[in-house]
Amino acid sequence: MEKPEALLRIRELIELIRHHNYLYYQQASPEISDYSFDLLLKELESLEKAFPEFLDPNSPSQRVGGEITKVFKSVKHKYSMLSLDNTYSEEELIDFDNRVNKLLGEPYEYVAELKIDGVSISLTYKSGKLIQAVTRGDGVQGDDVTVNVRTIQSIPIILDSSSFPEEFEVRGEIYMPRAGFDMMNRARAEDGEQLFANPRNATAGTLKTQDSSIVAQRPLNAFFYNLMGDGIESESHFDRLNLLKSWGFRVSDIRTKAKNISQIVDFVEEINQSRSQLDFDIDGVVIKVNSIRQQEKLGFTSKSPRWAIAYKFKAEEAVTRLQSIVYQVGRTGAVTPVANLEPVLLAGTTVKRASLHNADVMMALDVRVGDFVHVEKGGEIIPKITSVDFSARHTESLPEKFIEFCPECGTQLVRSEGEAAWYCPNDVSCPPQIKGKLEHFIARKAMNIDSLGEGKIEVLFDQDLVKNPADLYSLTFDMLLGIEKVIPGDEGKAMRRVSFREKTVENILQGIENSKRVPFERVLFALGIRHVGETSAKKLARHFGNIEALMAARYEDLVSVDEIGDKIAGSVLSYFSDTKNIEIVNKLREAGVIMHAEQGVLTGVGVLQGKVLVVSGVFNKFSRDGIKQSIEQNGGKVSSSISSKTDYVLAGENMGPEKRRKAEDLGVKIISEEEYLEMIG
Ligand code: IVH
Repeated sequence: MEKPEALLRIRELIELIRHHNYLYYQQASPEISDYSFDLLLKELESLEKAFPEFLDPNSPSQRVGGEITKVFKSVKHKYSMLSLDNTYSEEELIDFDNRVNKLLGEPYEYVAELKIDGVSISLTYKSGKLIQAVTRGDGVQGDDVTVNVRTIQSIPIILDSSSFPEEFEVRGEIYMPRAGFDMMNRARAEDGEQLFANPRNATAGTLKTQDSSIVAQRPLNAFFYNLMGDGIESESHFDRLNLLKSWGFRVSDIRTKAKNISQIVDFVEEINQSRSQLDFDIDGVVIKVNSIRQQEKLGFTSKSPRWAIAYKFKAEEAVTRLQSIVYQVGRTGAVTPVANLEPVLLAGTTVKRASLHNADVMMALDVRVGDFVHVEKGGEIIPKITSVDFSARHTESLPEKFIEFCPECGTQLVRSEGEAAWYCPNDVSCPPQIKGKLEHFIARKAMNIDSLGEGKIEVLFDQDLVKNPADLYSLTFDMLLGIEKVIPGDEGKAMRRVSFREKTVENILQGIENSKRVPFERVLFALGIRHVGETSAKKLARHFGNIEALMAARYEDLVSVDEIGDKIAGSVLSYFSDTKNIEIVNKLREAGVIMHAEQGVLTGVGVLQGKVLVVSGVFNKFSRDGIKQSIEQNGGKVSSSISSKTDYVLAGENMGPEKRRKAEDLGVKIISEEEYLEMIG
């Protein structure tokens, strides 16, 4: 394709993609399939690769992220980001209205809208292009998170219409929809990663993630509620919201104009009733004087505007009876007390259980079986017991004593110095610990045996076929065919039995066979050595190169490895001091599971031995992950920021100008993809 033709097509594709993005995210009415959309995006990406001079930083292809931010730059807000005065009662709302009435001394109207429970953001647009996104911070200055915000699909990076002022700011709230949050947390649980407590925390954490390609994969969304700048024509807040919407910003349609405070009270009540049906969390309603002129007349106190107020919903609470306390044992052996409650309706769902966290929390609350307890559901997913109604306590009730023996295997529990949890130390034959370890072993980020899941593992365990990961590799077709799985009858449904059929068995065995190709670092992670996560497994695998060397390592050898501290070292030593574990490892090796790192992965081997490289831009022959892998396979180390320790900056197309400047300032050699390929031969 010739240059002029390419430029035209690139422009056309950008137009098309933006249009379909708009239909998908703003209108929720897509006209083309996801697949056709991906094709458009792929075509654009390949043209931009072939003609890097036409790559527009605002191109929709740039939404996939990839840029790494080490430290978020602090930026002063042009207009400070104030907070709102809060109220929790109707009386206080009426007080607010009286103040407004007195100060204005003329008729006025209100707009009421949702108070989205997310993270506030301020976006600056110049000539219709998003140039900066800054968090609230302390209100005066916040963090520049532009790179991350650009990956949020529903936030326009170039505006469609032409009626916007040359420069303006929009403010709104970035949030994570509940459904997306649940899905993400489920996937994290499966991968053994730490869960986010609630959508707001997940949003805040995601916005501060250093790798923008991770942000791009998280289901963030946004609503906007404020427009500021010079030359904005509309005179009322409500019209400004409509204007924002017409420019392509997401504005919630759940809002109302009100002539008086009693209409506001009705709206608040209506929202409170229906809020559990929303797909996102809100923590109240914001009430604003509609006229901009009147807003200016009312002005601000030192902290907040006099023309607005937030009515906050109280955390939803219910009272119910505690029926029993049970103790659950997790994969690591940690014992968690859980309260079984008389079912009660709370925030739109029926609550039957609440976590009591640990012995200390349980004692502090002084909960006893039979007590009436207050249950609250704030942002957290799991409801919590906040207090006990002591006046309703039965005189004969006895204090709850934390169990001393494991409810699953009877072993005496232990508690280490400084830890909140009691543990069952029997990690070789305590059923939930074994099942948990097996589940961890087959997880996606470990051995990735997806033909086996939690349910099947349970069946294999119950049938005495698999007691440890090595047993998986002795399973045969005949052993598995016809095994019966009992599906318990829940809520009116009868119990069912299903048996493993030929196809299922073949899939299981194939999955196990495929796992023999999983690299050593993931095998090491899969073993489930306490405190050895994905990253430390990688470090250990690379440093020691094979399982024999790791098994022979002394404490000093272990702690000499980058990022391996006392805790991990101790845990590795204790794991390999147990003959049962050695036996498992030996069996896995005999079965053909990889127990050594590939040559290049060992540090210090290969042409890039001891060299530190920083990668920037887009590459022709490699994906971003691909090029990093290649560096590591050749013995080099990848770092995310340029410093005096950097040996080379590997520059792809469209390398950021700041990186280039920094490299030049520090005298770090910049090499091209071609030069790199020559280097590694
Ligand atoms: S208006 C001058 N409207 O609530 C303050 N804020 O405590 C203008 N928020 O930091 C804010 N939904 O993050 C406004 N519809 C809404 C909102 C909203 C959520 C957040 C915002 C702000 C905090 C105020």
